[in-house]
Amino acid sequence: MMNAKVRKAVFPAAGLGTRFLPATKAQPKEMLPLVDKPLIQYGVEEVIHSGIQDIIIVTGRGKSSIEDHFDVSFELEHLLESKGKTELLSMVRSISDMIDISYVRQKEALGLGHAVLRAKELVGSEPFAVVLSDDVIASETPCIRQLLDVYEFYGASVVALMEVPRDQISAYGVVDAEAISHNGNEQLYRIRNLVEKPKPDDAPSNLAIIGRYVLTPEIFSCVESIEPGNGGELQLTDALKYMLRNRPIYGFKFEGKRYDAGDKLGFLKATVEFALNRHDLGDTFRDYLRGLNF
Ligand code: UTP
Repeated sequence: MMNAKVRKAVFPAAGLGTRFLPATKAQPKEMLPLVDKPLIQYGVEEVIHSGIQDIIIVTGRGKSSIEDHFDVSFELEHLLESKGKTELLSMVRSISDMIDISYVRQKEALGLGHAVLRAKELVGSEPFAVVLSDDVIASETPCIRQLLDVYEFYGASVVALMEVPRDQISAYGVVDAEAISHNGNEQLYRIRNLVEKPKPDDAPSNLAIIGRYVLTPEIFSCVESIEPGNGGELQLTDALKYMLRNRPIYGFKFEGKRYDAGDKLGFLKATVEFALNRHDLGDTFRDYLRGLNF
């Protein structure tokens, strides 16, 4: 089956990051570094490696460092060049050369659904990916690529799913879904219903939606049709639930490990594991951790 190619990815980055205060008081959560790279750069590299060319970042007040990060830094490049630091220079250049990025503003943090809606004009009437960059995913095949494979087969929206212990389920959007066989494996689900942040007893399953989506453009009119939900915000989960009335939605239990880097403990776990996996730091860092008395 031939379905429209997904060329664009939207990065909502206008949230307030209250779980990470005070670090996020004057600095976007998306710019917190995991080892030496800001969270949002991991997401941008994931979509590039998935074959997506156009990136749209939804920003808000106090987020200009995101734009600066992906822009050319003449002074820094000049300094590195004059000191002959060619390796650092090419690393810095590769960030601004990475890809063309467009920015759109969400003036007030009115929810994830509202943030996605702000990208409507730039996305147009084509399918697109959504990446929440505080969910960092380590996987063999980029998570967005895994979802694109499902989208390309079924031509319908796909959300990334992860099994979550019952006592943590209330932090997520949760699906009621039926497993379907796809390419001989059991990772694909057809979604029957979605609930945003249910109480553990009301959760329809232990399958939570995490921050990777491939959406068809009908999602925009769905966000426009819903009322503010949980927390007075326009929730993407509610818009997906609305879309289910006349479109199928699939869920894919992706291969890989997800870190909630927007949460202090999740961020610490990601920092330790990413550092241990680094060729240049891993061994020394491992020795250091072994030497700690705890
Ligand atoms: P989160 O709920 O994780 O982010 O939203 P938050 O609201 O910034 O953080 P906390 O919960 O207060 O700590 C998921 C993603 O959606 C974006 C956020 O920037 C984050 O990437 N978002 C959320 C928006 O862009 N706009 C919003 O109104 C809400």
